[in-house]
Amino acid sequence: MTAFTRCVLPAVLACLLLPTVAACQETKTEPKTPDVIFVPTPQAVVDKMLELAEVDDKDLVYDLGCGNGIIVVSAAKRGAKAVGFDVDPQRIKETQENIAQNKVGDRATVMQKDIFTLDLSKASVITLYLLPSLNEKLIPQLQKLKPGSKIVSHDFAMAGVKPKKVVKVEAPDREHTVYLWEAPIVVDENEKPADPFE
Ligand SMILES: C[S@@+](CC[C@H](N)C(=O)[O-])C[C@H]1O[C@@H](n2cnc3c(N)ncnc32)[C@H](O)[C@@H]1O
Repeated sequence: MTAFTRCVLPAVLACLLLPTVAACQETKTEPKTPDVIFVPTPQAVVDKMLELAEVDDKDLVYDLGCGNGIIVVSAAKRGAKAVGFDVDPQRIKETQENIAQNKVGDRATVMQKDIFTLDLSKASVITLYLLPSLNEKLIPQLQKLKPGSKIVSHDFAMAGVKPKKVVKVEAPDREHTVYLWEAPIVVDENEKPADPFE
């Protein structure tokens, strides 16, 4: 072994590699903390949500906060293209497994993304099981949906936006509510509940 390979070469390699390693470490970020915990929608409620939104093979369905992927898989089984979004790596893994087990990988996928950073304009159906405050926070993004696109929400309304339909669904655990809206959605400030801190 020459002095070059013993001393100079390792030093040169270290100089080349160190900035790359440092850059990788700098860009590694922790996943965002979920804004709401995971609670799955029962299958009977999922079926009613997709039925109300008339999901079929012409649709592109986005489930915002997809949990274990039950909505994504069910939409894909109706022939739609479906994308689930979640910030929790465990939920992403469960959705990937659910998609694989149900063999709908040609139509369904999942992405680890914060729903408040998404461009929703390509979706024809949006499904939600979040919280009233999170539905309200999504309004500016939902206002960019194409006319005729549908939004369905499990259990939670959207302050100031009148639904087209509200339907009750019996599931094994309790009675659930499903809200349907059609784009373009219009916010009526008079319909908003009074702010208790004003
Ligand atoms: C109540 S669960 C609903 C799961 C699924 N949509 C269903 O109906 O069965 C809400 C999900 O939203 C996810 N979540 C919470 N905040 C989020 C955010 N900012 N971006 C993406 N996902 C989020 C949680 O990790 C959780 O899996």
